[in-house]
Amino acid sequence: MPDSTLITNIGELVTNDDDDGRPVFTALSDAALVIAEGQVAWTGPASEAPAAGEVVDARGRAVLPGFVDSHAHLVFAGERSAEFAARMAGHPYQAGGILTTVRATRAASDDTLRENLRRLTAEMARQGTTTLECKSGYGLTVADEARGLALAGEVTPEVTYLGAHVVAPEFAGDPAGYVDLVCGPMLAACAPHARWIDVFCETGAFGADAATAILAAGRSAGLAARIHANQLGPGPGVQVAAEAGAASADHCTYLTDADVDALVSAQVVATLLPGAEFGTRHAYPDARRLLDAGATVALATDCNPGSSFTSSMSFCIALAVRDMGMTTQEAVWSATAGGARALRRTDVGHLGVGARADLILLDAPSHTYLAYRPGVPLIAAVWQSGRLIAGSVTP
Ligand code: NIG
Ligand code: FE
Repeated sequence: MPDSTLITNIGELVTNDDDDGRPVFTALSDAALVIAEGQVAWTGPASEAPAAGEVVDARGRAVLPGFVDSHAHLVFAGERSAEFAARMAGHPYQAGGILTTVRATRAASDDTLRENLRRLTAEMARQGTTTLECKSGYGLTVADEARGLALAGEVTPEVTYLGAHVVAPEFAGDPAGYVDLVCGPMLAACAPHARWIDVFCETGAFGADAATAILAAGRSAGLAARIHANQLGPGPGVQVAAEAGAASADHCTYLTDADVDALVSAQVVATLLPGAEFGTRHAYPDARRLLDAGATVALATDCNPGSSFTSSMSFCIALAVRDMGMTTQEAVWSATAGGARALRRTDVGHLGVGARADLILLDAPSHTYLAYRPGVPLIAAVWQSGRLIAGSVTP
């Protein structure tokens, strides 16, 4: 095939492609993969690989789909390392810390926000993330939320309107008035820039009725629903997600049996964000319980300056394997194909023929090393749509 690239001598090729579209980890050993026109054109045994214009020798290393980070808050200014240090010294996480970042974000220029966003997305790319979702939520005025979403749209199509992150300080005495703003003028200004709507459904943020109203308003404006649910304690978020037909309920740290049933029966993806439990010292969510019940689980970073300032999907995989009851195979599936499900994407998260050629070359022989060697920079090279965007193929 002219203008094609053959990657051969792949020790383990994770495809997540079992021909039936079932949610299972799938891998081939001694494999090869051909990229043509930005897509996966062929996969199979290395001994049967077709000729191609360019040949890359993986030298027995593993190739995986690029990570799909389906939950990140990257439009912000400032940082909150002092809050993190205080939490590690025993102080609890409080949702009110969000307002510290709101103040810094409102005061920042477009260029400052853009520079921060680009630095974080480049950091993600180097660590193997080839699809990312990005939320607003640190503006909380009509103009600041619309600005955040326009900037997010410069780096990804998976843009989420999170005007309902917390009640804006100007509305501290009138939370219902803020919900009206979020569902009215703010939604009108933001919907053209977004694909998704999200709400932080939690004590101290928004309750069930407000969350339901906000997701319904978003739906009427053409936005699909996702939600921050059951993060800091038990609550109604997961049930709201199921009733709203949300693509994903994110966090899912404190779940009742009825919540688990609702996720399964409404086919809402449970997106687990262990970086947030790491950064807040809450207990990790129980992925095993969700998987055993038949739920679809995604893993994402929740990258934000407050609760989880990591951009590393490998770190999340390691935590999920060590502390959340996931096998290495399940964790890698959830960080790739699971994230794609959470974003209702079929073109990414797997390496079946026709998938976008988003892939990672690991400096290791198998996906297990992502958890086996935590904290080690194992991402040797990253391709997005068939183009090498980070690293290099030579060891
Ligand atoms: O997903 N839960 C709400 N939002 C973020 C935290 C944001 C912050 O603390 O700045 C989260 O953990
Ligand atoms: Fe979040």
